[in-house]
Amino acid sequence: MSGIFISFEGIDGAGKSTHIDGLADAFQRQGRAVTLTREPGGTPLAEQLRKMVLNDAMDPMTEALLVFAARRDHVQQVIQPALNRGDVVLCDRFSDATFAYQGAGRGFDWQILAQLENWVQGMAVDGNSTDSPQTLLKPHLTLWFDLPAHVAAERLSVARVADRFEAQPQKFFEKVAGGYARRLDEDPSRFARINADQDPRAVWQGVLGCMQSRGYLP
Ligand code: TYD
Repeated sequence: MSGIFISFEGIDGAGKSTHIDGLADAFQRQGRAVTLTREPGGTPLAEQLRKMVLNDAMDPMTEALLVFAARRDHVQQVIQPALNRGDVVLCDRFSDATFAYQGAGRGFDWQILAQLENWVQGMAVDGNSTDSPQTLLKPHLTLWFDLPAHVAAERLSVARVADRFEAQPQKFFEKVAGGYARRLDEDPSRFARINADQDPRAVWQGVLGCMQSRGYLP
């Protein structure tokens, strides 16, 4: 069985987490091995970088370089090996988050992010060498949980202590959502846009329907 790589995206407060867990169960019930992971993070090194990115003050370029450094380790240590084994990889955020948050949100150069993406995710077929033929590792499918920034802000206001991103004003998240929309426009066949401004059961039906229409779940 060949591996499937699915990423989950959306502004903070979009409510993707429970659906990721639900999908892990659904795939496991089909007898699939599931690798459940997240970004920034997913390896000991990348989880250390996550703590810095979420808590320490830094400029947008440093932020972008740290999330891509974390991603490089994650792809090599976890994602690529899991896909090679034939796992379903469910990843809570991936590169689209960098374009949305560091690109659209912070205003860091989109083309430089695209170069970093090519560099970091340009995996040689053997997973190592930079001079053998390269393929760009990208999710097969990205679920974008889309909801208006003011609804997300209301949801977050009743939640926990905010990190550096959650503490941003609504305007920032409007820009981030614009970044996701731009990524969708650049690669529409990879994306499924889920209306996250509904009750969780309706959102779950949207998620499931998308898996079924792509033939990933019966
Ligand atoms: P999130 O995935 O929302 O986790 P939790 O539910 O535990 O808060 O938090 C990760 C944060 O990191 C989120 O605010 C988006 C941000 N982020 C970036 O800015 N760039 C990136 O490339 C990634 C992967 C995440």
